[in-house]
Order: sequence, then structure tokens, then C-alpha cells
Amino acid sequence: MRKWRNKRPGTDKDENKKLFPVPCSLFPVPCSLFPSLMKQTAKILDGKALADKIQQELSETITKLQGKIGRSPGLAVLMVGDNPASAAYVRNKEKSCAKVGIISFGKHFPTQTSQTELEAVIAELNEDERVDGILVQLPLPNHLDAVSLLHQIAPDKDADGLHPVNLGRLVRGETGLRSCTPAGVMRLLAEYKIPLQGKKAVVVGRSILVGKPMALMLLEANATVTIAHSKSQDLSAITQDADILIAAAGIPGMITADMVKPGAVVVDVGINRVTDSYGKSRLVGDIQFEAIANVAEYITPVPGGIGPMTVAMLLQNTVSSYLQTTGN
Ligand code: GUN
Repeated sequence: MRKWRNKRPGTDKDENKKLFPVPCSLFPVPCSLFPSLMKQTAKILDGKALADKIQQELSETITKLQGKIGRSPGLAVLMVGDNPASAAYVRNKEKSCAKVGIISFGKHFPTQTSQTELEAVIAELNEDERVDGILVQLPLPNHLDAVSLLHQIAPDKDADGLHPVNLGRLVRGETGLRSCTPAGVMRLLAEYKIPLQGKKAVVVGRSILVGKPMALMLLEANATVTIAHSKSQDLSAITQDADILIAAAGIPGMITADMVKPGAVVVDVGINRVTDSYGKSRLVGDIQFEAIANVAEYITPVPGGIGPMTVAMLLQNTVSSYLQTTGN
């Protein structure tokens, strides 16, 4: 486990160094007046390192089994339109598939593709024995009914874990394909042996992609769970009570240091592209990382935290379906 020493390029602290290029101890005023200059105490939950380890393990499993089974696992990622963020995510997913030995059956459709055309593609992939997982990249263009499309994916090929059957299995505590981002959070917490039983967990965000399944998974681990969101009254009072705080509202920097209980575990699910004060585009999460790293015991970075874990869980779901359908 490595200690956070704030060496990430492009952070606020780097920018502050340009303004105050002297050690903190030379200031005639308390460092606490300059929170970004304080030594960061939180330990990093390194999602990138764990995702690499999981990918290595999946690659070994696939190498061992593909001779016996007679084929490699297959994943179809369907993307519609040209949303640049989605295109980057899809490329990343396909690159990771290639790295571990999963064949990509991905298709990229023009924005004006109709609901009927996509339904036909999903029906075909449901029947295709080379395909173990199907994912429809969200968001979709407005004229498409995403919910209806997700419902048409065969539940046992639902690599995203978003089909009502899989969400129902999660509600019931049955095994099934789990939503990738919350599954990635749970796997990361488990890797660092963060105790959850009896702990107060607060999830900020209530999306079907993250917030709701996240709360259910924490509940399954015997945490005492609260779901809060952007409309919650006195959000600070709720988050300040959290031993485990999951920020998943999709609002850049929404969680500030004063909203965090000292010693809490803070997981940042947000991935927001913003333009900084130098006009440079960069990724930030839903938490104010620099300040919260002085308060929390554990913290996830953006990038390098939950993003890579989501991809690792997608690959894992695909391999689980592959093992299931081939009876291994
Ligand atoms: N768009 C952003 N994240 C995701 C994800 O995890 N699954 C899907 N299907 N679309 C996304």
C-alpha cells in the first residue's frame, strides 16, 4: 500500500507550488490556512494497480481454458453516435479485451440508427455462440429508448449487469452478473481489507448505473447504508456521518473536505472533464481530492481509481458468462 505524496502532475498542489515555491515550514502562518500545502495523510486505493492484476489473472484463465473450450470469450460493445467521451471509453474497453484475450464483436453505429435496427443487432448477438457479453454504451442519442434496449439483452450475456433480471438477483442477494462500477468499488475495498460490516456507508448518487446497485452491494456486505443525492437536505450532515463515503453524483468537486468525517474511506466514482484555470482540459472526480486527502484515511484518485476497476469488472463479467455457458 503506498502513501499519497501528491506527485500527480497537474494537481492543484502543483499549481500552488508555482505561486508559493517555498516549503510550508517557512511560512509565518499556520499551514492550515493553505490546505493544499499540508502533507497529505490519506492512503491511496490504487484501482489501476488492482485492475492490472485482475486483467493478468483473467488472461491466465483464458489462456488455460481456450484450448479445452475451443474458443476465446467474446464481448460486443455497441456504441451509437460520436460522443467523444463514450468513444474513448469504448476504445479503452476494446483495448483491454485484446490485452486479456477476449475477442471484440463491437459495432459502432451512426447517430441516426433506429431503435428497430439496434433491436435486430441485439437479437442476433443474443443468439451468437461466440459472444458471451453484450454492452450498450450509454448515453444513447435522445431518439433511442435505452431502457428498452437494455431489457432485450439476454440476462446471461448482460456484461454490464443492468438488466432487470440481474438487478433483481442483486436485490435478492442471488448470484448473477453485477453492475461493473459498484462491483469494482467493492473489489477495491476488499483488496485493501476495508471493514464494511456494521459501518455507516453513504452513497451520494442514485443512478441505476452506480448509486442504487452500489447501495445494495454495501448492504449485502452488512454496512448500514444511506443513499443521498443532489436534492438531499443538509447533505453535509449526512456525509459527515459516513465511515465509507461513495461520491457518485457526477458533479465535479461536489464533496468538500468539511463534508468528510476524519478517518473516513472516500471513494470517488465521478469522471468529469473540466477546463482548469489555465485553459487546460483535465479529468476530475466528484470530490475535492487535495483537501479531502488531508482528512480521509483512504481515498481513490481520478484518474486511476474506479475507472480502471469498472473495465476490469466488465472483463470479469464476460469471462464469468463464458465459463458459465461452457460449463466450466
Ligand atoms: N457509460 C459510462 N459508464 C458506462 C458503463 O459502465 N456502462 C455503460 N453501458 N455505459 C456507460
